[in-house]
Amino acid sequence: MKVDVLLGLQWGDEGKGKVVDVLTPGYDVIARFQGGPNAGHTLEFEGQKYVLRSIPSGIFQGDKLNIIGNGVVLDPALFKAEAEALEASGHSLKERLHISKKAHLILPTHRLLDAAYEAAKGDAKVGTTGKGIGPTYTDKVSRNGIRVGDILHGFERKYAVAKARHEQILKSLNYEYDLTEQEKAWMEGVEYLKQFSLVDSEHEINNFLREEKSVLCEGAQGTMLDIDFGSYPFVTSSNTVCAGACTGLGVAPNRIGEVYGIFKAYCTRVGAGPFPTELFDETGDKMCTLGHEFGSVTGRKRRCGWIDLVALKYSVMVNGVTKLIMMKSDVLDTFQTIKACVAYRLNGEEIDYFPYDIEENLEPVYAELPGWMTDMTKMKSEDEFPEEFNAYLTFLEEQLGVEIKIVSVGPDREQTIERYTE
Ligand code: GDP
Ligand code: IMO
Ligand code: MG
Repeated sequence: MKVDVLLGLQWGDEGKGKVVDVLTPGYDVIARFQGGPNAGHTLEFEGQKYVLRSIPSGIFQGDKLNIIGNGVVLDPALFKAEAEALEASGHSLKERLHISKKAHLILPTHRLLDAAYEAAKGDAKVGTTGKGIGPTYTDKVSRNGIRVGDILHGFERKYAVAKARHEQILKSLNYEYDLTEQEKAWMEGVEYLKQFSLVDSEHEINNFLREEKSVLCEGAQGTMLDIDFGSYPFVTSSNTVCAGACTGLGVAPNRIGEVYGIFKAYCTRVGAGPFPTELFDETGDKMCTLGHEFGSVTGRKRRCGWIDLVALKYSVMVNGVTKLIMMKSDVLDTFQTIKACVAYRLNGEEIDYFPYDIEENLEPVYAELPGWMTDMTKMKSEDEFPEEFNAYLTFLEEQLGVEIKIVSVGPDREQTIERYTE
């Protein structure tokens, strides 16, 4: 058996949570492999809305096993709050959620360091989610991190050493803080974590594969935020690309099956950094309003613009996408004209690849297509699709070289249309 991977192809918030929930009935196990509570994955069904941060989006469908893999960074305080809220709404977790002992812990001082580093960067700040993601992965790579498994082995000493080291850095940055409240909640979170199955998830997943069980890996963030291939340095600190599923779960590359690449019918970005197709006019405002483009967790306004096929082609390439999924097409239902960026103009010259330096003066070159001007939110099958919408799909498939297998026409679980079903 192989593992399938679902990941965002843009700058995050493509709708990964919704689609993982939709695909979950077809799998036995759902696993997160990177990122942490910087993610906000929204699911809507039966009139209820949930936002997940660290817990996989397979948690709502039957008796599926959900795994937080070794590539994830976990904040025990935020995890406790998230898990308790789910338990309170009737969704039991303890039997159905396993956590890798090798996942790294986000310490309260990692969050302070995140804020202090951002403040020190001034105008060049990344606009992080402030959850301590960068400092935690930094400690992992520099071999100073604390792992989930450590809460069972000599934890107090390890915590004290890490905290002292962090406090020294904070002092050197003249960063003022009071840790009391945060530390208390965090320690309660550590105790709470002990109630879960802390596992060697690489063994667990490979055993499942041997038993012919199916696994879906849920990506967080998006390819353009990948630490290696994204718009560096305006990126997150993990490998959000498909290869991240191998290192973040202990799955061999030849075990990867389908790679679902998910994108919005337009494009958004939250936080700082280049965004060639960003719109600063009423068209962008309209996308933001109709798409409710505000951060699922932070509430920050997302920057909006037309779809960028140069960036998307790059994402399809580095991930080896086998199936595409297009989200939020309903947001464009009332647009007379749809634009799609097919190349960039750089110093008067047209280029069709994603350059090393995504400079400020990179100008998008657009193809224009007629809008469909039809409310698609209640459609149930592709037979109902307007002609112009089909033309948009065909255009995207020709440009990207991969079939669009699923189209999402609204936030609800039900508003999902499968294509090529025969
Ligand atoms: P994720 O981080 O990739 O899981 O995406 P987010 O949950 O951060 O952001 C996606 C937002 O779009 C959420 O508010 C979803 O409820 C919403 N959404 C998902 N699919 C659709 C869709 O097809 N149409 C509309 N209008 N909203 C959608
Ligand atoms: P989901 O999984 C959108 C962005 C931040 C910032 C940069 C670095 O919901 O798609 P970090 O806190 O990771 O160090 O921030 O990455 N970012 C996201 N943007 N969706 C996300 O997750 C994001 N997670 C991080 O805004 O620009
Ligand atoms: Mg999100």
